[in-house]
Amino acid sequence: MPHKKPLKICLASSEFAPLAKTGGLADVSASLAAYLHTAGHDVRLILPFYDTLDTSGLDIVPVDYLQQVPISIGPRHGHFSIDMTTLPGSGLPVYLLRCPDLYERGGLYTRDDDEHRRFILLSRAAIEMCQHMGFAPDIFHCHDWHTSLIPLYLKTTYAWDKLFSRTRSVLTIHNIGYQGIFDAGIIGDLDLKGGEGELHQDDLKLGRINFLKTGVLHAHQLTTVSPTYAQEILGDEYGMGLQDLLRTRSNSLTGILNGIDEAEWNPESDPLIPKPYSAKNLAGKAACKLALMDDLELKGGGERPVIGIVTRLTSQKGIDLMQKVLPGLLHERDFALAVLGSGEPRYERFFASLQNSLRDSVCFYRGYSNKLAHWIEAGSDIFLMPSLYEPCGLNQMYSLKYGTVPIVRQTGGLADSVQLIDPGAATGTGVVFRDYNEKALKWAINAALDLYANKPVWKKIMKNGMAMDFSWNHQGSMYVDLFRTLSASR
Ligand code: ADP
Ligand code: GLC
Repeated sequence: MPHKKPLKICLASSEFAPLAKTGGLADVSASLAAYLHTAGHDVRLILPFYDTLDTSGLDIVPVDYLQQVPISIGPRHGHFSIDMTTLPGSGLPVYLLRCPDLYERGGLYTRDDDEHRRFILLSRAAIEMCQHMGFAPDIFHCHDWHTSLIPLYLKTTYAWDKLFSRTRSVLTIHNIGYQGIFDAGIIGDLDLKGGEGELHQDDLKLGRINFLKTGVLHAHQLTTVSPTYAQEILGDEYGMGLQDLLRTRSNSLTGILNGIDEAEWNPESDPLIPKPYSAKNLAGKAACKLALMDDLELKGGGERPVIGIVTRLTSQKGIDLMQKVLPGLLHERDFALAVLGSGEPRYERFFASLQNSLRDSVCFYRGYSNKLAHWIEAGSDIFLMPSLYEPCGLNQMYSLKYGTVPIVRQTGGLADSVQLIDPGAATGTGVVFRDYNEKALKWAINAALDLYANKPVWKKIMKNGMAMDFSWNHQGSMYVDLFRTLSASR
């Protein structure tokens, strides 16, 4: 086979695990970049140097020729700097965009008036970093609305630079529910240098600028994080207003299911769980369950089924349905519930009050804890993820790896990663329900609890899930093939 040249990729993302994470975007940008780097490609990853960035154990050095680089955003003149660090483990170089004015706000995202400017800077600094490095990427890989302006910038503000004449842009949509929509008054801050006609003109007339939509208009290639979601977002139910535009670009839209980082999410070697285990020897899982129940003060011992939930508490995740179904079911059936999450106050209040009224059966940890997320995956019997929509979802895949049988709704990546159980044949990996309503969710939880009582079948289902391959070795090569096809088409 002819030797293939390594690709040059600039990957720009607002999240990157474990340094800066609110959800799955962080896991995916980090583990995909690590995969590409390990496969021999030249990956330059850039993310903001937030003040909340977890820098423990990192050696961070300023890139000397990228300090105090002047930049103007609209009428404002300022500077940015780039520092570099290497990730322990993968050796992936990570470039940190330093601009204290914009990124030292106590969190990744804000509701501040200049939120658009924070991610305009990320997009432009990604491009300018490449210029200063003399790095001509084959692929600019953008993720979600935060870096969706890069394709437009390459066609307008930076079109003069021949360095990018062969560069192709790829926009990966992780969640179409977040589009980055701003008042059209910010137009001057885009610095499009006469390229304003490239913005979505109907939106402009309506007084708004939509960052994600701009990316959908201009990226050479669009991807999203599962094949089913790639179909779903073309329709009215899931397209969130972008369906018409997406349909015009459907030939350039591919769904690639996310991979998972098996170095982090592997029950055989996970340092965060009380006892390791494998499909061959599940004794450790029973120990993890008892430790979890003990720690969360859930009563009933090892025979009592434990249902785990780890999630951002937003309407996307099907919390409304849980509100309708869980209180009644907790009275009808014998099971315990371990919940980790934070988000909308109404949902936090719901789980807090469920815990208060049924303390022996329900534990709600409000907040963010990577360690507890791993414990819940390892120590639960069943994982509940009844999402209203789910572009990919990682927790159901982590669950499968940890022998924790998922209950999911048949949507997006949940539909692509979990196969409905056939109890007679002991095939399948989880309980899958279709309709987003109380009856269907109740059916699904009851089905899982009934099946849990049938030990031989249950064990077989656990092992079916544990045998699935969601590694980046498998999924990452699809990105490489896509990137190669794109760069060959220049
Ligand atoms: P989304 O990106 O929509 O939140 P995913 O399933 O793709 O959903 O990814 C969620 C990621 O965030 C997983 O790694 C999950 O373990 C993690 N996570 C979500 N909520 C919490 C939390 N409260 N504490 C720790 N980790 C969490
Ligand atoms: C988003 C989606 C989630 C997906 C993740 C990573 O946040 O909600 O389904 O797994 O991005 O792609």
